[in-house]
Amino acid sequence: MLGQLLLAASRSGLVRRSVSGFPLTNKVVQRFVAGESVEEARVAVERLRDANLAVTIDHLGEETLDAGAAKATAGAYITLLEALRPLGLGTRGEVSVKLSAVGQRLDDAMALEHAREICAAAALNGSTVTLDMEDHTTVDSTLGILRKLREDYPETGVAIQAYLFRSEADCRELSAEGSRVRLVKGAYREPASVAHQGKAEVDKAYVRCLRILMAGKGYPMVATHDDRLIAITELLADRFGRSIGDHEFQMLYGIRTDRQESLAGAGHTVRVYVPYGDDWYGYFMRRLAERPANVAFFLRALGGK
Ligand code: FDA
Repeated sequence: MLGQLLLAASRSGLVRRSVSGFPLTNKVVQRFVAGESVEEARVAVERLRDANLAVTIDHLGEETLDAGAAKATAGAYITLLEALRPLGLGTRGEVSVKLSAVGQRLDDAMALEHAREICAAAALNGSTVTLDMEDHTTVDSTLGILRKLREDYPETGVAIQAYLFRSEADCRELSAEGSRVRLVKGAYREPASVAHQGKAEVDKAYVRCLRILMAGKGYPMVATHDDRLIAITELLADRFGRSIGDHEFQMLYGIRTDRQESLAGAGHTVRVYVPYGDDWYGYFMRRLAERPANVAFFLRALGGK
């Protein structure tokens, strides 16, 4: 219930304006967000690299109806990738992009053009891009843009949300050789007409999608903090003869860092999703919604403790 309220609040302009105004905002947000500037993001990335973790970096920002803002977001990614180039991370330093932040709500062609520019900058780093998945109304458009991007940048990946009824079919489509799919449970508030609602149903759907991807020929990116799903991934890897190098685990910055390090220590590729930037509100509220216990942490920080 609290989770649903927080997800509703994540889309509220009024709450966004009120919360963003709190003076202690930075302290609260620091647990989940690497910083506001490119320099702070770079420092976080270097720290993770030294802990043997790969990264995918998200320049925070969502849905815009302003063509200038969409262009500025693409520019921010290009600046970020230039700043990371000297680190020589290659595929261990990719970026994640929300197409709504680069113009998808205005025009697919605009989002495609900006995403292409970001892919080109990532390719100069020997790296790539994964498209985040947003609410269910964007899935067809996102997969359409993915198909076009992959004509020039075949290694471009995409997130698929297990909670959507359609996702098993999408996983089948995307399980061919060369395809990179990040499987997530799904973080938006979706109607019962399109998505599983209960945790147990979502977890079962995740396993069905995971099975399809692990049995396929692509590169599964298993994005979860859920130990049961991590254990099932390892069982499926055995069953389908996958070696440790042909799938990876992904987790969010600041969540279960001990587990990130133990998996990496066991030889797995573990990629941390690193958000940075000043437009942290929607991202932050989704993290609170996933784990309402985090609300206590948020309230304590607002109280200055
Ligand atoms: P679940 O929520 O069941 O959590 C399992 C355990 O993990 C919890 O018991 C707790 O210990 C820990 N945990 C989980 N969330 C926590 C939190 N916020 N704070 C503290 N502990 C927490 N979604 C989406 O819709 N589109 C996308 O593109 C992406 N992209 C993405 C990338 C990556 C790398 C990850 C890891 C996740 C996403 N997500 C996403 C978010 C995803 O859909 C989902 O909401 C979260 O990963 C939480 O689900 P879990 O699978 O971790 O399980």
